[in-house]
Amino acid sequence: MKTPFETGSGPLRWGMGSGASAVKAMVRIFCAAVAAVGLGRAGIVWAGPVEVAVQVDRAGARISPTMWGIFFEDINLGADGGLYAELVKNRGFEFPDPMLGWFMLRTSHGRGEVQIRTEEPFDPANPHYARIESRASTAMGLSNEGFRGMGFHAGEEYVLELRVRRVSGRPRLLIELVDDEGETLAEGRIGDLPQTWEKRSLRLVPDRTAARGRLNVLVEGGGTVDVDVVSLFPRSTWKQRPGGLRADLVQMLADLKPGFLRFPGGCIVEGSELDKRYQWKNTIGPVEQRRLLINRWNYEFKHRPTPDYYQSFGLGFFEYFQLAEDLGAEPLPILNCGMACQFNSGELVPMDQLELYIQDALDLIEFANGPVESPWGARRAAMGHPEPFHLRYIGIGNEQWGPQYLERYAAFARVLKERHPEIVLVSSSGPSPHDERFDFLWPRLVEMKAEIVDQHCYANPIWFFSSADRFDSYDPAGPKVFFGEYAAQSDRIVSVHNRNNWECALSEAAFMTGMERNAAVVVMAAYAPLFGHVDGWQWRPNLIWFDNLRVYGTPNYYVQQVFSHHRGDHVLPVRLSGDVAAPALARGGIGLGTYRTAAEFKDLVVRRGDEILYRGDFSKLPEGWRWPSAGRWEAVDGALRQGDPRAVSTAFVGGPDWTEYTLEVKARKIAGDEGFLIVFRDAFQNTRVQWNLGGWGNTRHGIQSWLGVQERLVTREPGSIETGRWYDIRVVLRGPRIECYLDNRLIHAVEVPVPVQDGFYASAVSDDAAGEVILKLVNAAPYERPVRIDLQGVKQVRPGSRGLILRGETLDDENDFDHPKRVAPRDWPVEIRSPRAELTVPSHALVVLRVPVER
Ligand code: AHR
Repeated sequence: MKTPFETGSGPLRWGMGSGASAVKAMVRIFCAAVAAVGLGRAGIVWAGPVEVAVQVDRAGARISPTMWGIFFEDINLGADGGLYAELVKNRGFEFPDPMLGWFMLRTSHGRGEVQIRTEEPFDPANPHYARIESRASTAMGLSNEGFRGMGFHAGEEYVLELRVRRVSGRPRLLIELVDDEGETLAEGRIGDLPQTWEKRSLRLVPDRTAARGRLNVLVEGGGTVDVDVVSLFPRSTWKQRPGGLRADLVQMLADLKPGFLRFPGGCIVEGSELDKRYQWKNTIGPVEQRRLLINRWNYEFKHRPTPDYYQSFGLGFFEYFQLAEDLGAEPLPILNCGMACQFNSGELVPMDQLELYIQDALDLIEFANGPVESPWGARRAAMGHPEPFHLRYIGIGNEQWGPQYLERYAAFARVLKERHPEIVLVSSSGPSPHDERFDFLWPRLVEMKAEIVDQHCYANPIWFFSSADRFDSYDPAGPKVFFGEYAAQSDRIVSVHNRNNWECALSEAAFMTGMERNAAVVVMAAYAPLFGHVDGWQWRPNLIWFDNLRVYGTPNYYVQQVFSHHRGDHVLPVRLSGDVAAPALARGGIGLGTYRTAAEFKDLVVRRGDEILYRGDFSKLPEGWRWPSAGRWEAVDGALRQGDPRAVSTAFVGGPDWTEYTLEVKARKIAGDEGFLIVFRDAFQNTRVQWNLGGWGNTRHGIQSWLGVQERLVTREPGSIETGRWYDIRVVLRGPRIECYLDNRLIHAVEVPVPVQDGFYASAVSDDAAGEVILKLVNAAPYERPVRIDLQGVKQVRPGSRGLILRGETLDDENDFDHPKRVAPRDWPVEIRSPRAELTVPSHALVVLRVPVER
């Protein structure tokens, strides 16, 4: 039973007094609470505590060591320009424009030219090189701009390597590191140049730090020189590996203690066309022989074009396996399954030609695990890792859907399970966990006894808060779930306005308690994407942001870290009762609209019981509405008219204080293809429901809902809208139930879940070695909550209970380079002395308690 209080006033309880007035009182209080949430005010509290009963004596499923892991993709300059520490862009002159990233540099007295040539390269696999012909004694040559500049730290050593050949004269190479003004930070010379290709190197130590530096490769003394594979790395890479990874970025990954590393993506696995798919065999062996490929994020988003984005594969499959090993994470490669990205070409490999793709998977297993005598095991050994990488999981396809996927997955599974029953297969279930593609795939994957199914979700925080119970109904005997890509979107998917704010992170924490409680089903999960370069991103939000010198973790990063560091061994069942969530009221404004149709609306009334929430007066264009830019809205003869028959346009009125109402309106189509759009429950960001009358080419009436950013078709019935006829439209909302009437005939009666508000979420696990109960509590409300904990089956609590808290001052709080730990875990002293304890969890907080117990 809910027992809301208003601060400073006496308790108002459900069920007290007459039923109707008590409900009214509750609704009033609830509306006040909603208003308070909206205004970000404190002042409303829930008097009754949340009761958290943990059955410590009934340990459930084992939590997979792979539970919390990492999704890596070369997006947002994640690999080239990011994790892969190479500072030179287009080092081998192999980009389609061989001079991309380079420009010619000549002092005022310098004379000469630069040419790109292909005759007698040092390696046919890397055919292009630059010829610098200097016809004066003053230096001239090339400058490389790096990836949005090059980051140089004062006093650190940088290693330059290049292939060089002297063609004529007695030239020397002058190598300079310069800042963005061209001021020299370090310089060195390479003389005695060979007449045939040789590899030469030089160490440089900048005397100042620069965030957007450059590398100059100049010819001094007159003469002609060929250069190729010009490379510059910090010496101090991760584990000091030459040509390795950026140490600060890998450290951020190591600090997550990830259970697995999924690579290499993401959509780059698929490619927009099949010839642009990721092929792991092209990413191993000597780096200069790895065949360059355009990165699909180069051109995917017209609003974030990145024309200089290519994959050098310096970070290739060997390095991914090595990284997974370094991190103590299970490697999880995702392979192309014979399908190009279905958001792009959707190109398919015919079934009778799939063998090549399946062979790639078999060879990958041998590359990772095979003996050094085997052909692919020998390749691994030649790269310096004779020991196996212990590959145990392979993903078949990234974000695939449809029957085409199922038949390809089945073909892979048939061969792989026969030849390698020890390898666990991960299958796709499309790009969203709540759409028709998913609804088609999931039951079929269950039937096919899929082992682990990858679900992806980019939705707004409301979706994550409301879906924490998503896995409660899953059958633990069915396929396991890999929640392989997820991130709360503060705006909407692929919007450039998405933020890594505390509200998103908190909603992810709430959702993660649901995954943890259902660790019998969910065995892997990862936030996505992982990295974003602040000057080179295509997609946001991202877990970790960096520039050429610095890095910081977002609030979302710290949520991941907290769950991973406190993963535990077994699930302990938790029962929540008391004031867990605000009542699930149908809530939100309404909208009237058209889809490529002109129409009129009149006699609009929104009523809650006897109360009129809104009555439309359309003698003139009413105030307080949100008018869209599309369409032509005007008041004509007492009706509201949208007069453009081609427009897709909806006008909105009302807000979250409209609850549990009936909407009535008359509508008439004037011209156009379809019918009317009646929107309701328009309460949070993109969350709303819509009755689409005469949709789908004027053949159907249907209900569509947006909980989060993705649309879901809830139901559809045959039906059309005639031109010139007035229709009576009525929508009745009661909690999740929706009834839609057309001319007093019930067309739809359905339930669409109402987003949870102000919820309280909890999960518990045991740390068996430490003999501790680990409790994770998420208070999503804008007020602190008293919490009563009952550790059932515990004889006594040993001394030493500890707590930590993660919260922002406001839901908008973010971290940045200047405040990298504004939202980060802090100690939260608690003293729990007995199995029954009381505490107060602050507003908008994730709290972790570790309680040493004796059973
Ligand atoms: O994480 C960004 C992209 O989102 C991934 O590449 C893809 O799998 C998903 O659509």
